[in-house]
Amino acid sequence: MPDRGTGPVLDRRLLLQLGVAAGALAACSRDPSPSEPSTTVPPWEPPAEPMVFPDGFVWGAATSAFQVEGSTTADGRGPSIWDTFAAEPGRIADGATGDPAADHYRRWESDLDLLVELGLPAYRFSVAWPRVQPTGSGAVNQRGVDFYRRLVDGLLARGIHPAITLYHWDLPQPLQDAGGWAVRDTADRFADYAGIVFDALRDVDATWLTINEPKTTAYVGYRWGAHAPGITDEDQAAAAVHHQLLAHGRAVQAFRASGAAGGIGIALNLLPVYPVDRAADAAAVRVDAVENRLFLDPVLLGRYPTDAIGTQPGQLPADAGRFEDLVRDGDLEAISSPLDLLAIQYYGVTGVDDAGNQVPLYPTSLATWQQVHPEGLYDQLMDLLIDYPDAPPLVITENGIPDPTADGTVEDAERLEFLRAHLQQAARAIGDGVRLTGYYAWSLLDNFEWAEGLSQRWGLVHVDFETQERTPKDSARWYSTVVRANAVAPS
Ligand code: FCB
Repeated sequence: MPDRGTGPVLDRRLLLQLGVAAGALAACSRDPSPSEPSTTVPPWEPPAEPMVFPDGFVWGAATSAFQVEGSTTADGRGPSIWDTFAAEPGRIADGATGDPAADHYRRWESDLDLLVELGLPAYRFSVAWPRVQPTGSGAVNQRGVDFYRRLVDGLLARGIHPAITLYHWDLPQPLQDAGGWAVRDTADRFADYAGIVFDALRDVDATWLTINEPKTTAYVGYRWGAHAPGITDEDQAAAAVHHQLLAHGRAVQAFRASGAAGGIGIALNLLPVYPVDRAADAAAVRVDAVENRLFLDPVLLGRYPTDAIGTQPGQLPADAGRFEDLVRDGDLEAISSPLDLLAIQYYGVTGVDDAGNQVPLYPTSLATWQQVHPEGLYDQLMDLLIDYPDAPPLVITENGIPDPTADGTVEDAERLEFLRAHLQQAARAIGDGVRLTGYYAWSLLDNFEWAEGLSQRWGLVHVDFETQERTPKDSARWYSTVVRANAVAPS
């Protein structure tokens, strides 16, 4: 492994390409991988008419607390692992920290007005645990709770549906000092915290999401060390998988017990994987286990796959026995508590070779981990329909692309075409039977893109980080027309 403590920051999915498994197996429903062109399956073409989404389809845009809020010491907020990580030299590409980010903590009202201006009926944001419980346990910081109450009331006053993520990576630092997601106690602490937020907002008919991308935290944060908490340990990575999923399950139980309104799910980033040739089939199955089934199976089926952890090509090389020992009686029942929705986050696909490495099959965006392949979204949605027929309705809670230039621009034709192509594939999947009920673009605003800092811009709306001025990009204007029409036109 390259040294990530010094020198340039390595991109998280570039790290994955260096050896970790990925994937999804080539189901018969899929278009063939590029290495095996088929003469029988012509490429899909969008129809000439606009593709109309079902009535009631929920349209929105997403952010997360640490990426937009800033004000990291305001009103009693405690430190999170991302404050600690970003303060370490060399961790963040441009040396940025979480302050001021997009200054959303102070500008939230005008940001909600922006949602109205763009005609977006839903907004996904996350609650910062260290604002609500500055040390991750014990006393509630009422000023932190009050911020989210004001934000939610501001949304409701504008007729905007709140989608609330409880955990988008900003673990209170004292919990990390006690072992973080590698230890079981953190799952209990999370359930307590979730209960506090449910009680505070129990009257709100919200879409609740427990944990954002447990995979990214486990692999990028605990295996590759390119995200907070910066650990490189396969066994801790495997433990972080189980303890985050347990935290999710416990939070769902707390949600039901609280009687809070709305529905609840988990946000999983899924990655269709295509074997580059037939010799790679077996490795691709294992990569699919590591990237997808290790999360989908326990949540939807109440069991872990047996082929995710081990030393065969494509597997997560942790100690399988140690992982099994973490799973106690009742854990899988909690983890598989019935959900109201499954949130999926889709950025692209990967190829897999016979050694289980992720290899490029499609062009990447400025984010080198992102192999852009809109048809992969269709494949992913259809795979879920086939493999998990009893899954709850799906919502896409993230999908997007960074600006092609680091400086940012409001003429973002690439993003517009990316969104169009993915929405066409989403509509296609709905037409083929997938229960997809909503879509949130990532992101509403340019923001703090983790290890890339402010240098990678993912917003529909440009943010000048000097002045904090917001300017909708071309894609935002175009997305507004899609939302208003509840349809995506071919061009
Ligand atoms: C996802 C994260 C989100 C953002 C996008 C680009 O993995 O959930 O916060 O970083 O990638």
